[in-house]
Parts: sequence; C-alpha cells; structure tokens
Amino acid sequence: MKKTILVFAALLLAGCGNVTEVGAERGKQVFRTCAPCHGVDGGGMEATGAPSIAGQEQWYIESQLVKFRDGARGDHPDDVEGLRMRPMARSLRTHAGDVESVAEYVSSMPLQAPDHTLGGDAAAGAARFALCVACHGPDGKGNQAMNAPSLTDKDDWYLARQIEKFKSGIRGADPLDASGATMVPMAMTLPDDKAVADVLAHIATLK
Ligand code: HEC
Ligand code: HEC
Repeated sequence: MKKTILVFAALLLAGCGNVTEVGAERGKQVFRTCAPCHGVDGGGMEATGAPSIAGQEQWYIESQLVKFRDGARGDHPDDVEGLRMRPMARSLRTHAGDVESVAEYVSSMPLQAPDHTLGGDAAAGAARFALCVACHGPDGKGNQAMNAPSLTDKDDWYLARQIEKFKSGIRGADPLDASGATMVPMAMTLPDDKAVADVLAHIATLK
C-alpha cells in the first residue's frame, strides 16, 4: 500500500514537471535555461556578453548567482550585461536548492578554451600581476579564503570588461558586495586599456 502511494506521488511530481530534487541532475535541467546566453557547452558567447562558466569553481558560481539574485551585482543602471543576467538568477528562487544544483552541474562541465583577443604584452603584464597573486594566487587559480576566483580559462574580453566595471563603480560598489569591494582598488592599479591587456596576456600564459 505504502509503495503504491509513493509510486503515485512520484508520477504526480513527474507529471506536473514539479521536480524538487537537488544535485547535478537537477542542475542539468536548470542549465537548459542558461544555454541560450552561455552556450550549450557553457563556453560563453561574446555576442550576449555571457562568459564561459563551464568547469569554474562551484563556490564562486554560487556566490555570483546569490549576488545577482540579491542585487549586489548586476543591479547598476549602466550594467548592460549584469542587467541581462540578473533576472536569470532571480528566477532560481522558484525551486529551493536550484542555485546549488546548477552551480554543481556547471562546475562539473569540462573547461572550455578561453578567447584571447586583446593581444597585450605578457612580459609587461607579469610585473603588474605581482599585485594580484595575494588573492588570485601565483598560478591565477584563485583562493576561496580570499573570495577570489580563478582568472585562467576565462575569455579576455570578459575579464577586461569586469576590470572596467570595478573601476567605474558598476561592480564592487554595492553595499551588499563586500568581497567585490576588495577588488576595486586592485582594478585601479591598471590605468588604461594597455595595462589591462598586458596583465590579461600574462594570465593567459599561466597553466
Ligand atoms: C539572458 C542571457 C543570460 C542567461 C539566460 C544566463 N546568463 Fe549568466 N550571465 C549573462 C551575462 C551577460 C553575464 C555577464 C555579466 C557581467 O558582465 O557582469 C553573466 C554572468 C554570469 C556569471 C558570472 C561569471 C563570473 O565569472 O563572474 C555566472 C556564474 C552566470 N552568469 C551563471 C548563469 C547561470 C547558472 C545561468 C542559468 C541559470 C545563467 N547564467 C543564465 C547572461 C545570461
Ligand atoms: C585583495 C584581494 C584581490 C587582489 C589583490 C586582486 N583581486 Fe581580483 N578579485 C578579488 C575578488 C574577491 C574577486 C571576486 C569579486 C566578486 O565576488 O564579485 C575578484 C575578481 C576579479 C575579476 C573578475 C572575475 C570574474 O570572473 O568576473 C577580475 C578580472 C580580477 N579580479 C582581476 C584581478 C587582477 C588583474 C588583479 C591584479 C591587478 C587582481 N584581480 C587583484 C580580489 C582581489
């Protein structure tokens, strides 16, 4: 009898598409809503401004989804791309656990080769990168204890845009964004487009 009820309940849940489980399987379903902008392989699409997210750290993906959801990121009126991402993160509120599930799935996807389009001078960038290692690590792979993500395996056009956003008060300036605020003075050490391209060229050499 009990078993019949369970099977019936399972059919009901499946029938109305109201799947409540958490984990990578659920995350895979949720990811279908991300693919139109981030690509089916999670490799990013410059045309939508959506970066590569496949294979990135689960803790970082989760932290950014929470920031977009709560308005700590992507809420500034001049943040064209952030405003595109924000409603997506807000829609994850509907099912408890979806932030964690989709982060787990995305993190399990294979890393995609990033775009290197800016052509900076890696040797000049190495000197600038000396300041970055305190948080992002000498290998650029990030450090969760500092809330600093990996910078390798990310498209340079996306990273350059984020540095601009930190400099212009579009990212890291919201009172809810304490960890983003630590990045703002660091972005200020890169005075112009050449400095940004150089440091990103150096990061591209890190393995
Ligand atoms: C309508 C297009 C769109 C959809 C759909 C979308 N995103 Fe995004 N996403 C973006 C854009 C654009 C950015 C870059 C925002 C910026 O430049 O600050 C972004 C940024 C992100 C970031 C930050 C990456 C980083 O390195 O900081 C994460 C994580 C992310 N998206 C995850 C997701 C997930 C998971 C989904 C599906 C639930 C999703 N996105 C759906 C457009 C989208
Ligand atoms: C004091 C610690 C600290 C230092 C030093 C630092 N960063 Fe960061 N950086 C962070 C944190 C924390 C974040 C994540 C902010 C968030 O959660 O939104 C970040 C994020 C970034 C991002 C955005 C990544 C993404 O996926 O959106 C870029 C690009 C970046 N840093 C580049 C640099 C560069 C280049 C340097 C050296 C000039 C540097 N950082 C030095 C703490 C630091």
